[in-house]
Amino acid sequence: MSLYSVLPDDLNPQCLPNHVAVIMDGNGRWANQRGLPRVVGHRQGAKILKDLLRCCKDWGIGALTAYAFSTENWRRPTSEVDFLMVLFEKMLRKELKEMHREGVCIRFIGELEALSPSLQAEIKRAMEETADNTGIDFNVAINYGSRSEIVQACQQVAQKVERGELSSEAISEEILSQHLYTAGSDPDLLIRTSGEQRLSNFLLWQLAYTEMYFTRAFWPDFDRGEFHRALQTYQQRDRRFGNAKDGVTEAKNQVAKRVKEPVLTA
Ligand code: IPE
Ligand code: IPE
Ligand code: MG
Repeated sequence: MSLYSVLPDDLNPQCLPNHVAVIMDGNGRWANQRGLPRVVGHRQGAKILKDLLRCCKDWGIGALTAYAFSTENWRRPTSEVDFLMVLFEKMLRKELKEMHREGVCIRFIGELEALSPSLQAEIKRAMEETADNTGIDFNVAINYGSRSEIVQACQQVAQKVERGELSSEAISEEILSQHLYTAGSDPDLLIRTSGEQRLSNFLLWQLAYTEMYFTRAFWPDFDRGEFHRALQTYQQRDRRFGNAKDGVTEAKNQVAKRVKEPVLTA
């Protein structure tokens, strides 16, 4: 059995993130450093994503969401955009059978209507074939932009109000979440590679309480060892969600203190 085929000993299986999101950045710079065309970085990046998905499954993580192409990435040279679109299609065609066998439930998020008909057909096939799989949820964001996702969710909610299916007072965070592509599943951990520390229009709503991990490693170098380090860091974080320090323990201390200490009034 190879190193990292099972969850490393120093990670607590009870405290793993259930949902990991990745901004796969640095493919171009990885290739440039080697004197290679940028697209070679994209090809290597696709292999790394495939292995990360398998790793997440091996280590018991419930969902992986990967940012593959943003609504802003159309600004790149046509040759690079074309290469990426063909790569997505080829990967899907090549890997679908194996992903299905491994129990991956694959979903694509983003404005998919703008993609080529042949890519849309592969996406549809992949989503339909794997819809009932329960091994791991794998969301791929293609032609995805978070602001546009939020606007579309608002439009859908507004249409329900117009049709009298919902009152404006009933609009809640939960209802809006349900109209996002991710439908209520927020990532616990976000990883961005390549040293950039920004969200680039990715999951702005869903990341409200997500732990962020930034690494200088370029995406094509983000192997299981790198992921292990990200999870070690995650497990050292204290997720408070607005609560007092050390969440539950602190809440208990407050109760104990209230018993002992006189109440101070303003
Ligand atoms: C990420 O790598 C892949 C996509 C955005 C499609 P980049 O292509 O952004 O690589 P850098 O950031 O230029 O190195
Ligand atoms: C973000 O990377 C988009 C994806 C990883 C798909 P970019 O390389 O496009 O982001 P910026 O331009 O550096 O913000
Ligand atoms: Mg980039």
